[in-house]
Amino acid sequence: MDNKYIERRETSATKIFDNRSLEADYRTLVPMLREGMRVLDVGCGTGAISSGIARRVGPTGTVTGIDTTARFIESGRGTYQDVPNLTLIHSDLFEFEPDETFDLIVSARVLQWLSNPLDALLTMKRMLNPGGWVSILDYNHEALDWQPEPPESMRQFYATFLRWRQDAGMSNRMADELPGLLTKAGFGSIEKINSDEHYERGQAQFEEKVGIWAKVAGSVQMVEEGYLDDALRLRAIEEYTDWVWDEAVSMTMKLSEVRGKN
Ligand SMILES: C[S@@+](CC[C@H](N)C(=O)[O-])C[C@H]1O[C@@H](n2cnc3c(N)ncnc32)[C@H](O)[C@@H]1O
Repeated sequence: MDNKYIERRETSATKIFDNRSLEADYRTLVPMLREGMRVLDVGCGTGAISSGIARRVGPTGTVTGIDTTARFIESGRGTYQDVPNLTLIHSDLFEFEPDETFDLIVSARVLQWLSNPLDALLTMKRMLNPGGWVSILDYNHEALDWQPEPPESMRQFYATFLRWRQDAGMSNRMADELPGLLTKAGFGSIEKINSDEHYERGQAQFEEKVGIWAKVAGSVQMVEEGYLDDALRLRAIEEYTDWVWDEAVSMTMKLSEVRGKN
């Protein structure tokens, strides 16, 4: 893909990730956090959620965030330079060789992008202390609920997006598959907690949050790979954006946190 598109996509994603916070976007994790914990955040993006975790574990705790996209790590190192117990590292999970083990490994919205999520869980397990916990936050994209229905062009775009993901080996139902995957990876005390993202007209950032699918449609990757006609993609962006501003009432993205003990 053209470097210009990669750059634009990463710039847009940087803004989305920067707007996330532990309290709003990984709220179910908060009660698990204790002062002094050593935490690894896998696929930390720009480190927005990791920085919230670092504040909660306090000066005696540490948070290491790793991400395979260099631009996100560079951006986060600048933004969170005043958080002394946070270290952001450019690394793929499968190549990461930490010289310590962790009390808690978290990974938000990452396994949905992997074709080998079980390997990812096994890799995380090896990095945990005995009795340590893993916490995975992820979507069931098949259960996305828009009220009312968005325009046909976006429904077609979204159906194609799910097919494209499936063909690439990614699960569209990761949230529901996680308990089975954690069991297979050998974790115990497995718990699944509802963590849906629900947006209603009138709430702050409603248009930005619901408008995420216009941003997803901004990528030309599916057109280049022959999945989608570019005219449909452009129509979906335009009609969906109008729908978000004029008609949308709510959107719920189905999300669950699944945790297990080593
Ligand atoms: C949707 S973002 C989630 C970012 C952040 N956790 C959040 O919830 O806002 C997924 C992130 O996972 C990263 N990622 C994907 N595969 C990875 C891997 N194998 N190792 C490390 N990071 C990975 C991507 O670069 C991306 O930043």
